[in-house]
Amino acid sequence: MKIQLLFFCVLPLFLSCTKTEEQAVEPEEFLKDHATFPVGAAIDYGLLKDNSQYRNVLRREHTSITAENAMKWNSTHPQQDVYNFKDADYIVEFAQSQGQRIHGHTLLWYQFQNISWVKNFQGDSAAWEQLLKNHIQTLVGHFKGKVSSWDVVNEAFRDDDGSLRVLDKDPGTFDDGCLFARKVGRDYIARSFRYAHEADPDALLFYNEYGQEWSSKKIQSILTMVADFKNRGVPIHGLGIQMHIDINTLNTGIENAIRQLAATGLKIHISELDIRVNPNNSSTFAYTDALQSAQAEKFKFVVKTYRSLVPASQQFGITTWNVSDNDSWIISYLKKIDYPLLFNSSYQKKKSYAGFLQGLKE
Ligand code: G3I
Repeated sequence: MKIQLLFFCVLPLFLSCTKTEEQAVEPEEFLKDHATFPVGAAIDYGLLKDNSQYRNVLRREHTSITAENAMKWNSTHPQQDVYNFKDADYIVEFAQSQGQRIHGHTLLWYQFQNISWVKNFQGDSAAWEQLLKNHIQTLVGHFKGKVSSWDVVNEAFRDDDGSLRVLDKDPGTFDDGCLFARKVGRDYIARSFRYAHEADPDALLFYNEYGQEWSSKKIQSILTMVADFKNRGVPIHGLGIQMHIDINTLNTGIENAIRQLAATGLKIHISELDIRVNPNNSSTFAYTDALQSAQAEKFKFVVKTYRSLVPASQQFGITTWNVSDNDSWIISYLKKIDYPLLFNSSYQKKKSYAGFLQGLKE
């Protein structure tokens, strides 16, 4: 009798308790499940190949992929008659196997015409234009049907006065002008867009730039260029706002950039988002709770502002510039002490991830 009592009265009570506990466990959330637009990451070939944590995050969280470096001129076109698509093809195959969109970055960037065979190229302006056309059309042709959008030209305008990069300001050091602007002429941007469009009429073509959140002169130059392209029928479909910012970047600057560029009616891509917490590169920097929260707030602000100021039909997506803090160009390339992304070096979600997620949900 006692045993029967235990079975009928106590056991159901025990089971119902266990069930309640199970129900209390929140299912894990992922960015892509809460976004109404593509959420992207720039990815590095070496990490993708060798790091399973990296691949897992990309699979779980992202619906869009940009190759951080593998589609740039120096990676794909090391000699005049040699193209190399090995790394880029690997990235494309990964993204395709996950059903992710692939955004191409970048057909032309003044920094990567600085490789020696291009710098030493001899020819008149027609020969330079042919070189430009061949490069663009070989890349766009190679990835046709796989890469659905391209940053055609990257960073053509100067920081200080928003003027077109043409002449090298300080010859003998890094060429901060643009070789193709000098050799082909100032119309090289429009021509690049036309050549890309010829090679793949279905691809969406973007102009990509940094610093719009603090340089109204750059915004003005971009708006003037877009108006000119529209007048002349030059195909352009989108604008990339890189958004390499820090926790002190003014929210008004972010809003202003997004609002003004969205007013073109073109698609808007926050194309290289990262948020630095140690902009002065202090060597004694501590990534405190307060700084982590401030960074999370800034991520949330960017995402919410994008959602509220960019009409849905123009929301091309938000891409972070790589995945974990350790993978960021700010550490590997700029050699700074910083923590600018959504995942820590063990690929665990940070507060900044929660901020981004809230920005998608609120
Ligand atoms: O992988 C090689 C390695 O094998 C070699 O030993 C080492 C020695 O220099 O270089 C490594 O490659 C470096 C690569 O980053 C990977 O870390 C390149 O030198 C270095 O130039 C490259 O820097 C990239 C930079 O653009 C220049 O291409 C950064 O990763 C990349 O994040 C950065 O991205 C740019 C965007 O394209 C445009 N907007 C700004 C953004 C940040 O600068």
